[in-house]
Amino acid sequence: MSAMTLTVNGRSYSLDVDPSTPLLYVLSDDLELRGPKFGCGLAQCGACTVIADGRAIRSCVTPVETMDGADITTLEGLGTPESPHPIQRAFIDEQAAQCGFCLSGVILTAKALLDENPKATDAEIQEALSTVLCRCFVHVRMFRAIRRYATERAG
Ligand code: FES
Ligand code: FES
Repeated sequence: MSAMTLTVNGRSYSLDVDPSTPLLYVLSDDLELRGPKFGCGLAQCGACTVIADGRAIRSCVTPVETMDGADITTLEGLGTPESPHPIQRAFIDEQAAQCGFCLSGVILTAKALLDENPKATDAEIQEALSTVLCRCFVHVRMFRAIRRYATERAG
């Protein structure tokens, strides 16, 4: 076991965990955050995506020890049901979900891309999205929601 500090959704946590534990397990089991999902566990599907220090990462293959001191955002950290973040609002407005299992990965991947590159082209958005699997095939509506959010944030 090893002591470490994580900042998750703006709140600081002191943890005493096995340093090789995947970040996803710490987020879901210790911090009870259900936004990031376990899909493949192999960095293939994107369901477990979180934003760490501005980058979208796959928490299922990220040992928590590599995140000591990191600033992490999960889907819960964006907005609330009463006051959704603008990207969540865009997904609601475009009805861009079916089962929702992939949503955390899709939304956080798109947000990290647009935070870094607010003028991302359609091709760049599609390339980023191609790394997150959606078994419900809602890609067209998701793309529309991300484009809507990108346009709105550009003002
Ligand atoms: S669960 Fe992490 S990429 Fe699939
Ligand atoms: S909405 Fe079901 S997996 Fe994407």
